[in-house]
Amino acid sequence: MSTPTVDRYAVIGHPIGHSKSPTIHAAFAEATGQRLEYTAIDSPPGAFAATVDRFRQEGGRGVNVTVPFKLEACAYATDVSAAARAAGAANALKFDGERVFAENFDGSGLVRDIRDNLGHRLEGLRVLLLGAGGATRGAVLPLLQENPARLFVANRTVDKAMALVADFHAAGANTAVLQAGGYNDLGRDDTFDIVINATSASLTAEALPLPATALQAVGLAYDMVYGKGLTPFLLQAQAAGVRHLADGIGMLVEQAADAFAWWRGVRPATHDLIRRLSTPLV
Ligand code: ATR
Repeated sequence: MSTPTVDRYAVIGHPIGHSKSPTIHAAFAEATGQRLEYTAIDSPPGAFAATVDRFRQEGGRGVNVTVPFKLEACAYATDVSAAARAAGAANALKFDGERVFAENFDGSGLVRDIRDNLGHRLEGLRVLLLGAGGATRGAVLPLLQENPARLFVANRTVDKAMALVADFHAAGANTAVLQAGGYNDLGRDDTFDIVINATSASLTAEALPLPATALQAVGLAYDMVYGKGLTPFLLQAQAAGVRHLADGIGMLVEQAADAFAWWRGVRPATHDLIRRLSTPLV
């Protein structure tokens, strides 16, 4: 086993070339005076566990995990946090001898960005969360912790949204606050203050089958993807008159800051870095 001179971290995914995580963590390390190395590792599909084993043998202290390995990261861990368990996925691992701790900071990063950076307190608001995949699963508990009046999960495949919400109800979520349905259920009798797109539709530049009435009273439309300018979802919101539009760059930086704090014990400032990495919403 080689003895590293600095603590080593990495992001593991496939593909990984596009990842901003090495840039973000290098900036955090510099700003906080922490000595560490952070690289990107492209793991072949099916070889996640072997890739992590090797990184640990080489002295790795922790990793971020991205597509398609977030579920495998949970399975790899010996100790899974409540957030990662609820999400059914992990986006950060920490190694301590034989033990592997799994966390999921995507949801907490989303909430911090909306509340602290964008200035929308969620308490008492009606929140619409679009999609019923892993991104939604990770967002539900952190959003509920902010005490919204309502959290409605809408999905193209309605049964998937129903099943997701039923899982959270079974785990104790308030059935009057957390509800689910299809896109056709939106905009009939109720309106929302904040809409969050947690589908993968923006990655392929697809519009969502949202009725225009679903967006009519919305104050903030948030797309979890970043660096894609005005996605079809943000364009739909803009056309409906939504004044505040945001992409997910702040969420990315905030989840990274949470992971950095978890590993290193010091939370870096995020504001300047978010501004530096932001691309215009045009
Ligand atoms: P992730 O882990 O990123 O959340 P996922 O589990 O594959 O990804 O889920 C993708 C989500 O995006 C799903 O909610 C999917 O809707 P379905 O469950 O109906 O498939 C949603 N999605 C992707 N493309 C979409 C589109 N063009 N219109 C509506 N929803 C879409």
